[in-house]
Amino acid sequence: MNSANNHPLLEVKDLGVTFTDDKGSLQALNQISFSVDREQFICVVGPSGSGKSTLIRVLAGLLAPTSGEVVLDGIPINEPRQGVGIVFQKANLMPWRSVLRNITLPLEINHVPQNEANERASELIELVGLTGFEDWLPHDLSGGMLQRVAIARSLIQDPDLLLLDEPFGALDALTREKMGAELLRIWRVRKKTVIMITHDISEAVFLADRVLAISPQPGNLRLDLEINLERPRQEDDRFSPEFVVYTQQLRDAIR
Ligand SMILES: Nc1ncnc2c1ncn2[C@@H]1O[C@H](COP(=O)(O)OP(=O)(O)OP(=O)(O)O)[C@@H](O)[C@H]1O
Ligand SMILES: [Mg+2]
Repeated sequence: MNSANNHPLLEVKDLGVTFTDDKGSLQALNQISFSVDREQFICVVGPSGSGKSTLIRVLAGLLAPTSGEVVLDGIPINEPRQGVGIVFQKANLMPWRSVLRNITLPLEINHVPQNEANERASELIELVGLTGFEDWLPHDLSGGMLQRVAIARSLIQDPDLLLLDEPFGALDALTREKMGAELLRIWRVRKKTVIMITHDISEAVFLADRVLAISPQPGNLRLDLEINLERPRQEDDRFSPEFVVYTQQLRDAIR
């Protein structure tokens, strides 16, 4: 990948997506523009149907824009590419493969020798707190553990950009807060650029350097809000006056 550091890692320029089928057409995203610097943590919030998953699919190269373009490290995205990791709401693990073998799968596909794959996976298993569970099968894991596996798998090829689409959406509130804190730790240690979708405004403010608020139908970027809360963030930050103002601004933006 081009390592010139004088441009943002990601540039989204006048992005529009319209879905057309025999019943008609639906504009999911309209004229979305923003850019993301290296090692930023961005959250995207918006009501259901505002085009958040559509945006992630375009950024991942899984869906072509109808108009505008997305440029990653100076190169327009038009197909999935190395350097981008993705985590979805459902972990989507292979049920017959162990934790270790699920995490090494992307490397096996790329013919990385098994001892090297195992070594890289072991480091990540430690990073996500699953040491001791290497040989477990997905159906014996909790929802939080499944998402830890999915996060480790998304990091195995050492992507620059990590995309997460409501990764904690299926978890209970306490597990969710814990996983958010874990994700911040991983982001700090691994120095990734993160774009995470969530419908939870407080979660977004707690985690992100910047929160993008999208309004629905068609999805429009209503607010690009910088979150100037000191890092590392503390649980008590959620009760600070600044935090409340940020969440209020975002709520107003997507209403
Ligand atoms: N493949 C598709 N074909 C047609 N319409 C689609 C397709 N994918 C998404 N849409 C429509 O585009 C709009 C945005 O969908 P999207 O899934 O991006 O929303 P979202 O913000 O992720 O919603 P949620 O919070 O419920 O996950 C919706 O109206 C949806 O029905
Ligand atoms: Mg979605």
